[in-house]
Amino acid sequence: MNNIKEMKLYSDAHRILKDLKALGYSEDDKLNLEDVNQFDQLHYRGTLSVQEAIESISIQENDNVLEVGAGWGGPSRYIAYKTRAKVSALELQQDYSEVGQELTLRTGLESFVTHINQDFLNFSQNDSCFNKIVSWLALYHIPYRKKYTKKLFNLLNKKGMLFIEDLTFGSSFESSHKKMLEKKLFANSLEKYSDYLDTCANVGFEIVEHKDMSSDWENFTNERLKLLQTNRNKHEKIHGVDGYITIEDFYKTAAKCFAENIIGGIRLVCMKN
Ligand SMILES: C[S@@+](CC[C@H](N)C(=O)[O-])C[C@H]1O[C@@H](n2cnc3c(N)ncnc32)[C@H](O)[C@@H]1O
Repeated sequence: MNNIKEMKLYSDAHRILKDLKALGYSEDDKLNLEDVNQFDQLHYRGTLSVQEAIESISIQENDNVLEVGAGWGGPSRYIAYKTRAKVSALELQQDYSEVGQELTLRTGLESFVTHINQDFLNFSQNDSCFNKIVSWLALYHIPYRKKYTKKLFNLLNKKGMLFIEDLTFGSSFESSHKKMLEKKLFANSLEKYSDYLDTCANVGFEIVEHKDMSSDWENFTNERLKLLQTNRNKHEKIHGVDGYITIEDFYKTAAKCFAENIIGGIRLVCMKN
């Protein structure tokens, strides 16, 4: 398996602090969550998608929520802020988890969001300890899909709900794309859309709803790239020329893979009966 840091999106976990500095915040300043949310959502359509998750699986106060692959914890903080649920933000990369913890403290959400720096494959908690699990664009990174799908099932209590947004193989995927996807997107468990549903159903989940996000995300990634290129000078001032090139390279890869249907996307809601 490749190293996750080869994926250009992840090379600098501290870059978000530079974005916040450019907004006028000094190092130890308290942060306004809306300002942080402009940068801390490492998935498509930002907090709009997180709000839709809150509504579709009815996340509420006192819920015990797990976010798998939380990055800086952007979705976890938004969920906690909107609902006062308790959220565990589980993240593999230590630097992302540490910067995430700092952002949680500086937004005053530390009594709601707990950052856990661990590989989901090694995460050991009692079964049935969460009533909601959420995950954005993280599961496809994790190898052994059957094994971790079973684990998602076991971690939920009865009637527990799962909300996922994730990548899938696109309709034009060929095995010759595999190496590129492993290196550039750290893809370790992509599946076809229909197999994705089967894997969840086979461990016992009821599929409540699912949506093919491929064309939405093709548009999103295309617009995201254009916006970055339009704002090149501003981005270079904050992140330097190399910082710009790194992110542009990643945004180009994502846009191209969607445009050529090498990858696709899924939104999925499941229940444990
Ligand atoms: C695209 S980011 C999304 C982060 C966050 N969900 C968001 O939307 O802002 C995916 C995250 O999954 C994490 N990840 C990958 N493999 C993981 C694993 N085995 N266990 C926990 N986290 C993992 C990555 O390190 C990365 O931070």
